[in-house]
Amino acid sequence: MANIFTKAANGVMDWVNERAPAMMPAYRKHMTEYYAPKNFNVWYYFGSLALLVLVNQIVTGIFLTMHFKPSAAEAFSSVEYIMRDVEWGWLIRYMHSTGASMFFIVVYLHMFRGLMYGSYQKPRELVWILGMLIYLVLMAEAFMGYVLPWGQMSFWGAKVIISLFGAIPVIGNGLTEWIMGDFLPGDATLNRFFALHVIALPLVLLLLVVLHLGALHEVGSNNPDGVEIKKGPKGNRWDPNKPADGIPFHPYYTVKDLVGVGFFLIICAFVIFFAPAFGGWFLEHDNFTEANRLVTPEHIKPVWYYTPYYAMLRVVPDKLLGVIVMFAAIAILFFVPWLDRSPVKSHRYRGWITKVMLGILAICFLWLGKIGAGPGTDPVETIIGRVLTFLYFAFFITMPLWTKLDKTKPVPQRVTMHD
Ligand code: HEM
Repeated sequence: MANIFTKAANGVMDWVNERAPAMMPAYRKHMTEYYAPKNFNVWYYFGSLALLVLVNQIVTGIFLTMHFKPSAAEAFSSVEYIMRDVEWGWLIRYMHSTGASMFFIVVYLHMFRGLMYGSYQKPRELVWILGMLIYLVLMAEAFMGYVLPWGQMSFWGAKVIISLFGAIPVIGNGLTEWIMGDFLPGDATLNRFFALHVIALPLVLLLLVVLHLGALHEVGSNNPDGVEIKKGPKGNRWDPNKPADGIPFHPYYTVKDLVGVGFFLIICAFVIFFAPAFGGWFLEHDNFTEANRLVTPEHIKPVWYYTPYYAMLRVVPDKLLGVIVMFAAIAILFFVPWLDRSPVKSHRYRGWITKVMLGILAICFLWLGKIGAGPGTDPVETIIGRVLTFLYFAFFITMPLWTKLDKTKPVPQRVTMHD
């Protein structure tokens, strides 16, 4: 029986190969003959998990689109309809809303891994730049998605964020109106955000992810030791000309990544089934009330993944300066490959300064996130927010200095394995 299936499968493969001879070599290049360093640790799960969440968002998004009505009059009730009357609609919606937050958790950890192991250093600058473009598009995608259910926070969040463009001299007001298509968020805003959220930005995201992986596979993956396996000894059990420290991505890392997927799905299932709003962090309480332009919510704040930047905006006393600081906080990340002057990639072979600085950066980001999620009325918190914003920027601006000053240890010739 198995023989019949093997024969049939081989027949189909031969048939495809004859007509599209480039397909199998591409599969081999990126899967079975892509030699990844054999010392990947848990931090290397997050790339494949980001891919998984991307697929989840697209698939659940397609089903939501089948029932969602993109108009200010009907959007809110169509979401209620999905939650109450559409078969399994509540599951699809919670998978999508939880997926959005999980996407950012995974991407933030993925980025932090890059910072820890110097994965942005030569020759992977382009991988990092493409990653940053993905991050920008992802933020726009999530912002527009949040407006669609047309709850109170959708409306007021959109109003506050789009009005930020009003701070730009001369063109500010015109630009705000142009983005909204009205003087306030309304039908036109909802329609265009729907078009961008369901088709334009997902296409751009997919393209960027393909380019991101294409750029990575040209140069090969970095690893927790920051050792270039292509420069090391050659010859492994599969190919005498390939790096000795490389193993085929498929089946070894596909199977290993499945372990990560298992753990990840358990966590996601817990959130989806027991805490889909996650105490107001993943779905804000105010968004369970329909948008009302006459009633302003007590505290208008964006979802948690934007709050570090939102905190920066709020603690700067001047509006225009606040907007500049907020955008600069994201833009500065693009320059990390050129700000880091260390001859060593991984923090494992750098001194204490790198570890302390990475710790400070993580604390600043999390603490700012907490401040941005609060009401923003406590003056002490505002002062703390200013200090944290200063430290955040100091990390990057002084990076050429401290990466040069930090003492490095000799990097081993081969990757090391930690059991
Ligand atoms: C939709 C979002 C993203 C997806 C699906 C994605 C996917 C991946 C995958 C599958 C890998 C290879 C496996 C791994 O190293 O974990 C990878 C590597 C990498 N990604 Fe991403 N990524 C995303 C966003 C980002 C962002 C926002 C950044 C940083 C700004 C980034 C920077 C990198 C770097 C530097 C590497 C190479 C890591 C190394 O070799 O050590 N990625 N990405």
